[in-house]
Amino acid sequence: MQNLIPIGSNKPQLGSKTFGAHQAITLMEGLLTMKEDKDEEVASRLLSRVYVFVVMWSVGAFLELDDRSALQLFMRERMGEVLDLPESDPEDTIFDFFVDLKLGEWQHWAGQVEEYIYPDSYTPEYSSILVPNIDNVRTDFLINVVARQGKVRLFFPTHVSTAWQAVLLIGEPGTAKTVMIKGYMKKLNPEQYLSKSFNFSSASTPYNFQRIVEGCIDKRMGNIYGPPGGKKMTIFIDDINMPLINEWGDQITNEIVRQAMEMKGFYNLERPGEFIHITDVQYIAAMGQPGGGRNDIPARLKRQFTIFNCTLPSNTSIDKIFGEFLLFFDIFAGTITPLLDLSGLSRQFTLLLP
Ligand SMILES: Nc1ncnc2c1ncn2[C@@H]1O[C@H](COP(=O)(O)OP(=O)(O)O)[C@@H](O)[C@H]1O
Ligand SMILES: [Mg+2]
Repeated sequence: MQNLIPIGSNKPQLGSKTFGAHQAITLMEGLLTMKEDKDEEVASRLLSRVYVFVVMWSVGAFLELDDRSALQLFMRERMGEVLDLPESDPEDTIFDFFVDLKLGEWQHWAGQVEEYIYPDSYTPEYSSILVPNIDNVRTDFLINVVARQGKVRLFFPTHVSTAWQAVLLIGEPGTAKTVMIKGYMKKLNPEQYLSKSFNFSSASTPYNFQRIVEGCIDKRMGNIYGPPGGKKMTIFIDDINMPLINEWGDQITNEIVRQAMEMKGFYNLERPGEFIHITDVQYIAAMGQPGGGRNDIPARLKRQFTIFNCTLPSNTSIDKIFGEFLLFFDIFAGTITPLLDLSGLSRQFTLLLP
């Protein structure tokens, strides 16, 4: 599978073939649990299309737009006969389609994008506004497919816990990673789910991380800890790649994150040797693309996550986002708004931003 990634691409690549296969299986499991049982014809069409979708979002999950086009070309030319690919216009790629889990048909993501309705009873905080577009609707769906899966895991000889799958969003700054994850957490029912967000920085230490997590959990029984009130909790670590890499090349803060995720807990700092088992906690993280002075994270941490790359919005999306904002400034209505269509003014504003 790794051979499908265009050679010469400098984008983060799959660590190994098993890594891609693991992501594919996680997605397949998530999608198949969401499908409804149908007659045999729909079921077989659905399966072959879900397979293509899963390949796109495992092998192709880290790719930028140009590499996505290259992958689609490769799949159409070399595997068009055997794979059930969606018919697309020249300006679309197969990444713009998803499988309708009821009918087993390919559908364009554009059909899922709802109109943004500016609230009239309050002024929304600028940084929390998310104008729906193909990119964020699709990423939200992928987060849900992965993060809402509770896999039963034997994590303690006498205790079976359900572990939610972890998601990591990577992408250039401004690709709405933070806003999308916060939006996902906001939609969780607060009666059953708690959430906690924090940012990593170059000053974050393993101690800080452990203390933050310990602050979110209560003792349940014995050495088993979990979020208060028997609820589940999503912990969002933003900028997870920021912690310092020491002179030996280790990013120690992320080693404890890895331990917390892999072993479902960490060692008690007050009582050495005693392990704190943590249940009902899910991790979601975001980070900028590594490179250009930005750190990567250890591969052993990366493999705990299902990873999706968020691409910069297309020019049409940028026009739409700014268009929605400007519509609500009466002073601009009739002057600036028409210019948007004529000159792509919003795009130029965006490009001028640091
Ligand atoms: N589709 C969108 N609609 C509205 N605002 C957006 C959209 N995409 C990005 N933004 C804005 O861009 C800014 C950067 O988003 P953010 O989530 O912080 O990006 P990232 O975490 O990827 O660097 C935020 O203020 C966000 O509101
Ligand atoms: Mg961010």
